[in-house]
Amino acid sequence: MSSTIINSPIAGCMRWGAWGSKFNTKAYQEIISACIDNGITAFDHADIYGDCTTEADFGAAFKSFASKRSDIQIISKCGIQMLGPNRPQHTVKSYNTSKEHIISSAERSLKNLNTDYLDLLLIHRPNPLMHPDEIAEAISQLKTAGKIKQFGVSNFLPYQVTLIEKSIAVEYNQLEVSIVYTDPLFNGQLDQCIEKNIIPMAWSPLGGNIFSNLTDAKNKRVFDMASSMTSKYNTTVSAIFLAWLYIHPSGIVPVLGTSQIERIIEAKDAKQVKLSKEDWFKLLEASRGKEVA
Ligand SMILES: NC(=O)c1ccc[n+]([C@@H]2O[C@H](COP(=O)([O-])OP(=O)(O)OC[C@H]3O[C@@H](n4cnc5c(N)ncnc54)[C@H](OP(=O)(O)O)[C@@H]3O)[C@@H](O)[C@H]2O)c1
Repeated sequence: MSSTIINSPIAGCMRWGAWGSKFNTKAYQEIISACIDNGITAFDHADIYGDCTTEADFGAAFKSFASKRSDIQIISKCGIQMLGPNRPQHTVKSYNTSKEHIISSAERSLKNLNTDYLDLLLIHRPNPLMHPDEIAEAISQLKTAGKIKQFGVSNFLPYQVTLIEKSIAVEYNQLEVSIVYTDPLFNGQLDQCIEKNIIPMAWSPLGGNIFSNLTDAKNKRVFDMASSMTSKYNTTVSAIFLAWLYIHPSGIVPVLGTSQIERIIEAKDAKQVKLSKEDWFKLLEASRGKEVA
C-alpha cells in the first residue's frame, strides 16, 4: 500500500456548511474538536463545497487548532468549475486541469482553510481534456513548494488512472462505493487499487443517506438485511454498512458524510465489526437483487 497519511475514517465536510448543516464557527470548532478527540483526524474538502464557501467557513474555525496542525490531515480537491454567484466569471459548468488552474485552486484552498499545506490534493473528476504531463507539472511544483504532501484523483476509472500514471504516481482514488453503489467492485476500480497500491476512499459510504429513502426497493432490501444482523454483531445498521466496506481487501477508507458527532464516533467503531463472508455476500445479494452468477 502507498505510504498513507490517513489512518482513520475521514470526516467529510461537504454537508457541514452551505450545502447542509450551515454550521457557524462555534459548531465547526465543536465538531472538529470531537473528531480529533475520537481519533478522526482527516477532513475532506473541495474548493467547490458550499458553492465555494465551506473551506473558508471551516478555515475560520480551524485557526484555533493551529497548534495541532501536524496531527491533522486536510484533503482538498480541484478541477470542477461551478456556476454561481461566487464564480461569476464561469459561463458553463466545466472541468479545468491546466497547470495554472491546479496551482491557483490549491493556493486558494490553502488561504481559505488557514493552513500552509494540504496533506492531500485530489483531481475531483476526470477531465476529457486533461493531459497527464500538465497535471504532473502542477503537482510537482506544489510538492516542491511544500504546499501539498500527497496527490490523488477522484472518480477516475482504471484507464484514466493509468493515463495519469504515465506522468505521475497516483496515491489515492476517492470514489463512490457503498452497499447501494457496488460498481467499483466489478468495474476494475478497486482491483486497480490493489494492483497499484492506490488507497481507495469511499464517498457517500452510506449511499448519501439510505435511511431517508426506504421506499426505494434497493435501500429497503439492504436496510432489512442489515437490520437482521444487528443483534448477531451487537451493532447498528449503519455500522454494518461501513463494516461491509472495511472488509474489502483494497483497504477502503470511508469518507463520512454525517454532521452529527455521535454518528462520527459510531462510524469509527464500525471497524471493529468483523462481518462474516457469508453475511457480506447476503448484503451484496440484497443490494443487487440477485445472487452472484
Ligand atoms: N469526491 C467526490 O466526488 C465526492 C462526492 C460526494 C461526496 N464526497 C465526500 O464524501 C463525503 C460523504 O458523502 P455523503 O455526505 O454523501 O455521505 P453519506 O455518509 O453516505 O451520507 C450522509 C448523509 O447520511 C445521513 N446519515 C448518516 N448516518 C446516518 C444514520 N445513522 N442514520 C440516518 N442518517 C444518517 C447524514 O445525516 P446526518 O448529518 O443527520 O447524520 C447525511 O445526510 C462528503 O462530505 C464529501 O467530503 C466526495
